[in-house]
Amino acid sequence: MVIIWSIIGVLVLVAIISAAWAGLRAAPWVPTWAKDFARIRELAQVQSGDTILELGAGEGRVLRAFVETPAQTIIGYEISYIPFLIATLRLRKYRPRVRVLCKDFFHASFTDASVIFCFLTPPAMRKLKVKCEAECRPGTRILSYAFSVPGWKADRVDKPTPNAMTIYRYVVGTLDAPESQVLG
Ligand SMILES: C[S@@+](CC[C@H](N)C(=O)[O-])C[C@H]1O[C@@H](n2cnc3c(N)ncnc32)[C@H](O)[C@@H]1O
Repeated sequence: MVIIWSIIGVLVLVAIISAAWAGLRAAPWVPTWAKDFARIRELAQVQSGDTILELGAGEGRVLRAFVETPAQTIIGYEISYIPFLIATLRLRKYRPRVRVLCKDFFHASFTDASVIFCFLTPPAMRKLKVKCEAECRPGTRILSYAFSVPGWKADRVDKPTPNAMTIYRYVVGTLDAPESQVLG
């Protein structure tokens, strides 16, 4: 009995450490509002053949929302073990089109992405900016939930009501555009 409780204790500790590490790396687990999934899909303008990356996939709810799009490949990266396990179970029936990887997205390649979705902290967005500028192809749509990317011009800033969460859409190749279109 002591051995079983010790194993459970170690597993819980590992899960807590992985969640804390994720919080330090880019963001703690905070879910995107389900009422915003339709807005996210609309802003992503997914076409057949697209590859969608979600950076910090949580328990896979946003990935699940993208299943309804014509994307060819949908990949989520998640380093916190409990959300990763939930996302893996939630999305197992959509494999191999949808995959959840237990991998730090700062160590992943963005070169194949046509759509990137993220809900991260402002310091993480600053770091991500450098990586996206180095790796993303022109035309890649980058959607940032709640936080803007400092130094980039959004081609859409979507906030339909004063209480709605802002979603910023950036298109690689137009990041220095003079005007952003604010839709209310
Ligand atoms: C604010 S939550 C967003 C979760 C989900 N995208 C959603 O919108 O519901 C950020 C997620 O990113 C994960 N995360 C943080 N840093 C990460 C990294 N470097 N690589 C992969 N996942 C990371 C966290 O564990 C957390 O689940």
